[in-house]
Amino acid sequence: MYYEYQDNNLFWKNTDLVEMVTLIEKELERDYSYTGPFYLYHKDILLHRLSYFQHSGIREKSNKPEFFYSVKSLSNVSILKIIGDNPLFGMDIVSGGELFRAKVADISPERIVFAGVGKTFPEIRNALEYGIKAFHVESLEELESISRIARSMGKKAGVALRMNPDVSANTHAYISTGKEENKFGIPVYEFSSALEILHNSSSLALVGMQAHIGSQILDVEPYKKTLEILMPMASQIPEELKTTFEYISIGGGFGIDYEHPLANDPDAKEFPVQSLLAYLEGVKKEFPYRIILEPGRFISAYSGLLLTHATYNKFKKDYRITITDSGMSELIRPALYQAFHPILPLVRNGRVQIPHDIVGPICETGDFFLKKYPVYPINPGDRLAIAHSGAYSASMSSNYNSRPMVPEYLLENNSFRIIRKPQTLEDMIKSETSLL
Ligand code: LLP
Repeated sequence: MYYEYQDNNLFWKNTDLVEMVTLIEKELERDYSYTGPFYLYHKDILLHRLSYFQHSGIREKSNKPEFFYSVKSLSNVSILKIIGDNPLFGMDIVSGGELFRAKVADISPERIVFAGVGKTFPEIRNALEYGIKAFHVESLEELESISRIARSMGKKAGVALRMNPDVSANTHAYISTGKEENKFGIPVYEFSSALEILHNSSSLALVGMQAHIGSQILDVEPYKKTLEILMPMASQIPEELKTTFEYISIGGGFGIDYEHPLANDPDAKEFPVQSLLAYLEGVKKEFPYRIILEPGRFISAYSGLLLTHATYNKFKKDYRITITDSGMSELIRPALYQAFHPILPLVRNGRVQIPHDIVGPICETGDFFLKKYPVYPINPGDRLAIAHSGAYSASMSSNYNSRPMVPEYLLENNSFRIIRKPQTLEDMIKSETSLL
């Protein structure tokens, strides 16, 4: 997508990665005595991905945000700041931690919506305190809790009903959320009970309806089906509740192409955002409310890579195993969803590709990136870019095997800035030492 080789050196949207990574590694070693893997984000790519939504005809003149970036996909506050600088974007959060990040990134409360099946009372209280736009409510009990907490605080809570439309997203089972058996959303048969709770509460204002049917979706059809279910439901809302009603959100889930990383590959196929927006523009002509999207991966995935180093090779009869210095602690998607991430050497060597298992150092058989995948021979010390690691990579990282969290860098104007310092060993254990 954004990668190409020039004289066997890898370029990433015009950035010479060999040159840039060498400079970053020097800084990391000089300032932090650090020589391990790191995430690298490309501001131009991030802005380019945001621009996909920029010219959409579903925008209102009001300049209210129509797009709520899904913070969980890449939640570094410096990244949130860049996205928040675009007035079309608000933030879709799922925890008190993400609320905190959004506040630190200076996102104003009316640009925040709060999803998630298990919002705790303190999380609800803090969000009400800040005055967020809406809770995307996932159960009748949650709706009642929000009503009670808001009343006790003398506040009115904006709520949108997150419905479970029982629509298939044709995606991996672990990232399907809109089927009846999934834990997400209010079942359609409870819609009238939800309206009754709203009718009887003076501390709730119904601002919308929402559905998020899954992730890594590649065609528009499931969104059409979802809207065909939600729109007639919206028209059943009684007049007295409609006075505050503003939007239907069809969630996020817009998929990218993980398999064709090189620029201008004609086989690359990602979610057709423009077709969806064109369809929504048509819908809007007959539908009096705003339609909102919550993109995450579509914006962040291509914007990041994980830079790792080959440590050792093992030579099997007809393939090789290459071990790297990063693993499922930095990128768990292959282990969790059998996801594919292309691995591109910064310098392309050799003539013949040989099947490789490219694996991490963690003591788990599931800690691998690629299996029996043909690549040019890799030597210890070689630098590898694990592509499309902007989404659900750093944000899903962990300290497993007591590996400190790795640094994050941002490329900007052909220069670089650290946006998360490497976690030190002392940082990693500092809250555990009360018995020592
Ligand atoms: N809105 C809601 C309510 C969500 O739950 C999500 C993601 C999104 C929007 C954004 O979805 P996106 O556009 O990024 O697909 N860890 C998995 C993905 C989990 C998605 C969870 N919800 C992965 O690495 O594939």
